[in-house]
Amino acid sequence: MCGIVGYVGGQSALDVVVAGLKRLEYRGYDSAGVAVLADGGLASAKKAGKLVNLEKELVDRPLAGGSVGIGHTRWATHGGPTDANAHPHLDNGGRVAVVHNGIIENFAALREELAERGHALLSETDTEVVAHLLAEEFSSVGELAEAMRLVCRRLDGAFTLVAVHADQPDVVVGARRNSPLVVGVGEGENFLASDVSAFIAHTRSAIELGQDQVVELTRDGVTVTDFDGVPADVRAFHVDWDASAAEKGGYDHFMLKEIAEQPKAVADTLLGRIDASGRLTLDEVRIPDAVLREADKVVIVACGTAFHAGMIAKYAIEHWTRIPCEVELASEFRYRDPILGQRTLVIAISQSGETMDTLMALRHAREQGAKVLAVCNTNGSTIPRESDAVLYTHAGPEVAVASTKAFLTQLVACYLLALYLGQVRGTKWGDEIRAVVRELARIGEEVERVLETMEPVRALARSLADKDTILFLGRHVGYPVALEGALKLKELAYMHAEGFAAGELKHGPIALVEEDLPVVVVVPSPKGRSVLHDKIVSNIQEIRARGARTIVIAEEGDEAVVPFADHLVRVPATPTLLQPLVATVPLQVFACELATARGNEVDQPRNLAKSVTVE
Ligand code: F6R
Repeated sequence: MCGIVGYVGGQSALDVVVAGLKRLEYRGYDSAGVAVLADGGLASAKKAGKLVNLEKELVDRPLAGGSVGIGHTRWATHGGPTDANAHPHLDNGGRVAVVHNGIIENFAALREELAERGHALLSETDTEVVAHLLAEEFSSVGELAEAMRLVCRRLDGAFTLVAVHADQPDVVVGARRNSPLVVGVGEGENFLASDVSAFIAHTRSAIELGQDQVVELTRDGVTVTDFDGVPADVRAFHVDWDASAAEKGGYDHFMLKEIAEQPKAVADTLLGRIDASGRLTLDEVRIPDAVLREADKVVIVACGTAFHAGMIAKYAIEHWTRIPCEVELASEFRYRDPILGQRTLVIAISQSGETMDTLMALRHAREQGAKVLAVCNTNGSTIPRESDAVLYTHAGPEVAVASTKAFLTQLVACYLLALYLGQVRGTKWGDEIRAVVRELARIGEEVERVLETMEPVRALARSLADKDTILFLGRHVGYPVALEGALKLKELAYMHAEGFAAGELKHGPIALVEEDLPVVVVVPSPKGRSVLHDKIVSNIQEIRARGARTIVIAEEGDEAVVPFADHLVRVPATPTLLQPLVATVPLQVFACELATARGNEVDQPRNLAKSVTVE
């Protein structure tokens, strides 16, 4: 969702800000704008549509050059994606400019109040009121940071605000409640941005801002206070990836690059967490072992792809630890008054660490006394900051909107957590668990092997480009994999795709099956010819008998499925619970190729945002 950049330093602010906005494009947006301080005044430009429109505007009508500026990519909430609604918004005197991410819930009342005092509001946005309020407060206090604190105290809702004022031309001020904002600390220059990718080309030193804080940036200083002006504690961190990690590196799409990076992402997430004897060392889990030992329930909250990782984690946690585990969509969680207590361990899974639904769910859980452990990919983000502990996934920056490598690393982190819980609680370390730990340690190589055999999957995807519907079936951990395959296809190929538990088929969905309907079936491991395996082979026969074209994902050596597969995709044999790590990869490749064949934007699918910072 909205991307924010602020800059103060010795370079051209316009260049730095526009380059930063480009790095934030992946978040999803539908208009863009900039403002710079120059020659004692303030100059701004904004345009609906993609950044190229703004860049063209800046060529047609160049702005005066200056070294202090702000920029914004907007994902429309209040008012459509028009030039007028694009940020920055200015006061009527054109002295203050502000950009905003989030929603100001009391904007209507503030708007009315401003109109009564003679202000002319020119857009349909909730943001514009802030520019007018800042101008008013600045005229009495003469200092932008103080004006920002006064204004923030009047705002309800979630907001990140970044502003400049022509009468204080060496300062950029930011404020943060709920929505993300990080500081980049350079030499003789400082940055503000929605995430570190906007300034990673300039500095890898960053500062995390907390809830309800205001930051004032000058070339040489960063001052952080709360909304009352009390100096605040901040956490500095070093970004452990560089600008090249957020580049396409020769791939046509970030998504392709991120799919290819999965073996490394998985290996990095395991690194240093399993010792030579197969024991888990998760030092960052700061929740005392005694609390983990006493936990009587695990509740997982997450959204979208992360929710699917949570569904798979439930199988692992219950099987290896025997602790009851619930998985819930974060957006539903707090509204049903869930039963939580001090012995509940809540796991919040989020790639971005900023998903508002997940953040609200974890806050609710903590208010009820539960301990919250975050599984997160983004250092400096809000969800780990507000959790009792965090287990970071080390996927590196995920730029494509559709989640791929983050999903695999979320699975790895959840398996590690489940095994760790088992270890702490004294689960008998039997042969099965030993085999799982051994297999986990080398799973990156298996993912690599899958990637090497994807050409037939790509060809198959291209041949299905004109289909309207594709169904996905699975059982046990294959069911969430089927849901994930369908989600990838919906978001990327804009096709009707649905995932079902294969056993549910005959309770309704089988009515959808007709001649030549492609149905992807994720087949569980045939270890010991399990009941589950035989059952799904029957399900494949049932749909094939009704004309479906079956695309079967099955382990190497599983011969039972061969007669019933119109297309067979082989994945390496793994312990059953780990199969999603290899079985999901062909579905990612399939969706990516179908999107390309249908001429869709792969990295930024329509209507979607990478970081969903509103409920
Ligand atoms: C799908 C996708 C989304 C995210 C969801 C949660 O490909 O990317 O469904 O998984 O919005 O995002 P995070 O993990 O950032 O909380």
